[in-house]
Amino acid sequence: MFPKVRMRRLRRTSKIREVVKETVLTKNDLIYPIFVKEGIKNSELIDAMPGQLRFSLSNVVKEAEEIASLGIPAIILFGIPENKDDEASSAYDRDGIVQQAVRSIKEWLGSNLLVMTDVCLCQYTSHGHCGIIQGNEILNDPTLKILSKVAVSHAEAGADVVAPSAMIDGQVQAIRNALDEAGFADIAIMAYSAKHASCFYGPFRDAVYSTPSFGDRRSYQMDYSNPNEAMREVQLDINEGADIVMIKPALAYLDLIYRVKKEFKLPVAAYNVSGEYSMIKACAERGFIDEKAAVLEVLTAMKRAGADMILTYFAKDVARWISEK
Ligand code: PBG
Repeated sequence: MFPKVRMRRLRRTSKIREVVKETVLTKNDLIYPIFVKEGIKNSELIDAMPGQLRFSLSNVVKEAEEIASLGIPAIILFGIPENKDDEASSAYDRDGIVQQAVRSIKEWLGSNLLVMTDVCLCQYTSHGHCGIIQGNEILNDPTLKILSKVAVSHAEAGADVVAPSAMIDGQVQAIRNALDEAGFADIAIMAYSAKHASCFYGPFRDAVYSTPSFGDRRSYQMDYSNPNEAMREVQLDINEGADIVMIKPALAYLDLIYRVKKEFKLPVAAYNVSGEYSMIKACAERGFIDEKAAVLEVLTAMKRAGADMILTYFAKDVARWISEK
């Protein structure tokens, strides 16, 4: 009798579907990005990212505690400083907003929550670029010194992992050396290795006020047309000492997640960025798609492609949905 092979046998009941499932999203895959803003009393809603907040320093610890109690293992902190200048000096200030937030979260939660920090300058420079500028040019090597200072200041505050995202050549090696020299050989680096110049960062720039005042980021962030170049970026970061490599954005870059995981046997992170978040939110708000189903489908796809961890603004929702199951 035809057909002998019947694929539907293993789809008949929900139990049989459970046992043959190849990819399972778990809470341990999640990293929750949070924004902390200097100089505000009450947390603020972010217009372009429904459901996300800019936390005040006094509220961020409570938020971190909630995240930990939901079973999410890690957060990544983004700071919004009160003062910006050409040198991004508020980025490496001992009492900068990220440094203060890390200290208070670590004091309260200790090893119950992994604290990662974004190491970049764009929120801290008056011009909004991720490096030091001269005229209209973003300088490479002078920026390395500043990024190293930022990373060390985060480690001093107690960060477990630093995540350089400026796409400046040599940033991983510069930061590794600086951390080692400062006595932080145990602090890991999660490198934003293949970070692309993407329109999907739009809502994030709205959230942290980091839209560049001139030009764009295409002289340092990658062209999304170049997968071989992405592989080289990842290889370089591994050579420079990255412990975890990241592909960013995630949804339109599943091929790169797949290729990187296949080629390099180290942990791979995928960043489900702000635009990917807000796209689903906006669609769901208008009733065009089911939010929970959409989120689980795209995040599972990232994991299926090879991501070991996913940075996502949906982390709290996902953790709750997994617990309810
Ligand atoms: C900082 C940084 C950006 C994001 C993470 N780190 C913005 C950018 O490069 O413009 C984007 C995150 C998101 O969109 O969710 N360089």
